[in-house]
Amino acid sequence: MPLMTTKPMFDLAYSGGFAIGAFNVNNMELCQGIIEACAAEKSPLILQISKGARKYAKMSYLKAIIDAAVAEYPWLPIAIHLDHGDTVDLVQTCINDGFTSVMIDGSHHPYEENVKVSADSVKLAHANGVTVEAELGMLGGIEEDVVGMDAHEYEKNVEKFLTDPVQAADFAKRTQIDSLAVAIGTSHGAFKFKHEAKLAFNRIEQIMKTCPGLPLVMHGSSSVPQEFIDLVNKYGGKMPNAKGVPEAQINEAVTKFGVCKVNIDTDLRLALTAKIREVFATKPAEFDPRNYLGPGREAIIGMVRRKLQANVLNSAGKADAVVAQWEKLGKPMPKFYTKTCCGK
Ligand code: G3H
Ligand code: 13P
Ligand code: ZN
Repeated sequence: MPLMTTKPMFDLAYSGGFAIGAFNVNNMELCQGIIEACAAEKSPLILQISKGARKYAKMSYLKAIIDAAVAEYPWLPIAIHLDHGDTVDLVQTCINDGFTSVMIDGSHHPYEENVKVSADSVKLAHANGVTVEAELGMLGGIEEDVVGMDAHEYEKNVEKFLTDPVQAADFAKRTQIDSLAVAIGTSHGAFKFKHEAKLAFNRIEQIMKTCPGLPLVMHGSSSVPQEFIDLVNKYGGKMPNAKGVPEAQINEAVTKFGVCKVNIDTDLRLALTAKIREVFATKPAEFDPRNYLGPGREAIIGMVRRKLQANVLNSAGKADAVVAQWEKLGKPMPKFYTKTCCGK
């Protein structure tokens, strides 16, 4: 049963010219859509769960849905990851709940505090066989809320929020993290750029020099495809000027640099929302949830399959190699996977 940490995945992805898609799960349709797409494309994947997802769906329900997916596709390499964990307590809870990987996001704290919460999380997680991602630098979107800055101001000052390569080396050494989420110009949500969409590839290059071999993670990596924005807007939505990271730039980060994990949530939300809006607008009498959530789930499958292709993440067809790497490492499993869950 290849439920695994991110290590076997990143071992291959770092220099293999591909990245693992980390897709956010909030309900059954999202989970099924993601899994079915990855199974169809034979792609390794990371299912990630935010604090908000835990609150919305309850972890016990999410765990049961994920366990069902794992049972359905026993050959598919899957990691279960905490997205944007904000406290060491939440990290501990997720370890207890059987997560195989966690993120501690102390990026909004002063540097020394970020080092402390990240190093503390690593101690806990590694003692239980769980891998850890931490973040340095400041993305737009959810983190900018913390300091009350709007997206326009962020974009104007983006250079000074990017991850500092020298600090990154110190951070990695002192925390012993397994991967680093870097700020290189991406941001969360559907409105990422007011002007030209442009990632700071020179920063990734510098970070790779100061932190050789450290797997890098890109948050805020939805591409906000125009056709989905058009559908949303056509059927009563209002999302003017939505803009994401062009898929060609994601692909460059993945194939030329050490980006091993690419986080995608907004594009799944868009696919689901566009389809549901279309059904409601074209069939106003429809009220059977299966008849709008079903097409929504199909749209998620399409969106995820699109991401796995060679021109984006290039992870299609890599499942068997990741399983082989996992076996080579001795099939490491977190200590708590079988423990019944779940904490709040
Ligand atoms: O980066 C954040 C993810 O999109 C999760 O969002 O906290 O609303 O679940 P959420
Ligand atoms: P998007 O909002 O671009 O999908 O980013 C999601 C993310 O980074 C989750 O951690
Ligand atoms: Zn994120």
